[in-house]
Amino acid sequence: MAPILEVSDLVTRFYTFDGVVHALNGVSFDLQAGETLAIVGESGSGKSVTMMSLLHLLPMPPARIEGGSALFHDDSGTIDLLKLNRAEISRVRGGRIGFIFQDALSALNPVMTVGRQIAESLERHLGLGHEQCRRRVVELLEKVGIPGAKQRYRNYPHQFSGGMRQRVMIAVAMACNPKIVIADEPTTALDVTVQAQIVELTQQLQRELGIAVIWITHDLGVVAGIADRVLVMYAGRPVEIAPVDDLYDHPGHPYTIGLLEALPRMDAAGSKRLISIEGSPPDLMAPPAHCQFAWRCRYAFERCWNEVPPQVSVGPQHHITCFYDVNRERPRDNV
Ligand SMILES: Nc1ncnc2c1ncn2[C@@H]1O[C@H](COP(=O)(O)OP(=O)(O)OP(=O)(O)O)[C@@H](O)[C@H]1O
Ligand code: SF4
Ligand SMILES: [Mg+2]
Repeated sequence: MAPILEVSDLVTRFYTFDGVVHALNGVSFDLQAGETLAIVGESGSGKSVTMMSLLHLLPMPPARIEGGSALFHDDSGTIDLLKLNRAEISRVRGGRIGFIFQDALSALNPVMTVGRQIAESLERHLGLGHEQCRRRVVELLEKVGIPGAKQRYRNYPHQFSGGMRQRVMIAVAMACNPKIVIADEPTTALDVTVQAQIVELTQQLQRELGIAVIWITHDLGVVAGIADRVLVMYAGRPVEIAPVDDLYDHPGHPYTIGLLEALPRMDAAGSKRLISIEGSPPDLMAPPAHCQFAWRCRYAFERCWNEVPPQVSVGPQHHITCFYDVNRERPRDNV
C-alpha cells in the first residue's frame, strides 16, 4: 500500500496571555490508502490539535504552526497541506478530506436544512447541478440509514436525534468521495448501542468506498475492533505506533502498557483489579527537557531525566519513543 498522507515533525503552539502552550512537539505518522489509523491518548495529548492543524481549523492567533509538513498524495499529485492558502485548503476540506466531529449539533448549521448542507458541499466540490445534487443527497441519506430520506431532506438538524445527526455528519463527510475521513471522537456523546451502529456504518462505507479513516478517541477499548494501526499520543508527541494486534500483544511504551492495564478485559480470568496510571500529564506551558512521561513511569532511570527519547523501531511497522526495553527489562543499547 502507498501512503496517502505523510505527516512529519508537526509543531503547533498556542500563544496565550498566560504563556506559550507547547501543544504539538514533533508529530510524525503516515496513513496508507484505505486503512484505519486510530489515534489514542489522554485528554490534552494533542489528538484534536493534530487534525485541526492539518485542516487549518485552529484559531490563528493564538495558534501558530511552527514546523513540519503534511504531504497529501492523490491522483492529482502531492500537496503539502500546511502550505495551502485559505482558498486552497477549503477546496480540500470537505472534498478530498472529509471530517466528522463529536458534536454534530454544533458542527451542522442549525438554520439550514440537512439536505441543503450536503448539497452545498456537492455543488462546491463536485460542481453538480440542482437536480443531480438532490438525487445524490437522497441517495447519501439512504446510504447512512436515515429512514424516509426523501422527506427528511427538508428537515433541520434539531429535528434529528443525536445518532441520526451523527449519520448526517457521516453523509456530509462521505458526500464528495473523499480519500481520507477524519473522525474526532465521533461516538463519545452517543449511548453504547448507537455508538456501535455508527462504528459499523463508518466501517461499511469505508470498505465500500475505499476511504482511509483517522479515528480519534481517548478510549483504547473502541480501537481493537476498528483499527489497522494505532498511534498513541502523550503530551503532544507520538509515543508508540504499531499494527493493532502488535500493540495489544506486545506494547512497548510504558504509557501504552499503562493504558492497556487500565482497560477492563472481558477475557481476563478471575477478577483483575483495574489499574489507573498515577499522576497527570506535564504542564505544556513548561515542558521538561527530558522524557515527558518520567514522573509517571515505573521504569524511569537516570537517562530519562536528562534527555528526550528519540523514536526507535522495534518491528517493521512498530515504533516507540522510549529509552527502556520493557520486554528485556533493561535500557535499550541501540538508542
Ligand atoms: N485554543 C487553544 N488555546 C490554548 N491552548 C489550546 C487551545 N486548543 C487546545 N489547546 C491545548 O492544546 C493541547 C492539546 O489539546 P487537544 O484538544 O488536541 O487535546 P485532545 O487530545 O484532543 O484531548 P481530548 O481527548 O480532551 O479531546 C491541550 O493542552 C490544550 O489545552
Ligand atoms: S524514556 Fe524512560 S521515563 Fe520515558 S517512558 Fe521510557 S522508561 Fe519511562
Ligand atoms: Mg480532542
